[in-house]
Amino acid sequence: MEIKTDIILGDSYEVLKTIPSDSVDLIITSPPYADQRKKTYGGIHPDKYVEWFLPISEELLRVLKPTGTFILNIKEKVVKGERSTYVIELILEMKKQGWLWTEEFIWHKKNSYPGKWPNRFRDSWERLLQFNKNRKFNMYQEEVMVPVGDWAKTRLKKLSQRDKIRDESKVGSGFGKNISNWIGREKAYPTNVLHLATECNNKKHSAAFPESLPEWFIKLFTKPEDTVLDPFMGSGTTNIVAQRMSRHSIGIEIIPEYYQMVKEQIRPVVLSLFEPKEKYGKTNNK
Ligand SMILES: C[S@@+](CC[C@H](N)C(=O)[O-])C[C@H]1O[C@@H](n2cnc3c(N)ncnc32)[C@H](O)[C@@H]1O
Repeated sequence: MEIKTDIILGDSYEVLKTIPSDSVDLIITSPPYADQRKKTYGGIHPDKYVEWFLPISEELLRVLKPTGTFILNIKEKVVKGERSTYVIELILEMKKQGWLWTEEFIWHKKNSYPGKWPNRFRDSWERLLQFNKNRKFNMYQEEVMVPVGDWAKTRLKKLSQRDKIRDESKVGSGFGKNISNWIGREKAYPTNVLHLATECNNKKHSAAFPESLPEWFIKLFTKPEDTVLDPFMGSGTTNIVAQRMSRHSIGIEIIPEYYQMVKEQIRPVVLSLFEPKEKYGKTNNK
């Protein structure tokens, strides 16, 4: 099996038009934030952000498989002392386009350093918005289970009678919990907060993902030989990780220097794919 990694130079909107409909299993991306990194690669004014993004999200909706997922890393910036509302507006407009806003994960940047602002504290989290085409989508929850750890040691030591029965939710959600179910288990499902350091191996891009971020979503929403797309590729973190995990991937980048850099980085990984398949299969997904 050959894992295909397509690195494409160009404007995301134009390139997306060339990608077949219903062909991608996971889209994960961090588009340029409004105005924020103007010096590096041109920002979009916060007032124009929704207008700029909607034609792109229309194409993303077309290329995503009905069972696929779109993870959008975004965070509204502060303008004149107020949080901008373009992310909220974007969600509402994308819903009108036909997207389902199914979940929101929080990326807690656990190593962000302290700072002093007159009316706020250090911003140490970003949104990872999850959108889908359908209510039923592929999700491999067992792949991201975490050790039960210290919570179990303390919470499960002394169980009340109530803990041993199914405790129906007071808010009437229909979900209940029987805490004693966790006795003897080593793994539990994670929460929707991802505690990841911002640091990454790739220092050649000022806004690169830590590898653990695309890795987590690739594990959760895809299986080997599925296709992952990053329409704002940057330093290619998504593609490099996808390839390591035996997923096909497509990366689109408008700046030739980044495109070239990723092309060069991808090459040695492609060569190593001639080694036995098992090495890159499921067992490799830590
Ligand atoms: C926030 S960075 C992505 C960083 C990436 N997640 C990584 O790990 O390196 C956004 C990238 O989108 C690129 N970009 C901006 N506008 C674009 C467009 N219209 N089409 C394609 N790429 C674009 C920028 O050059 C930048 O490298």
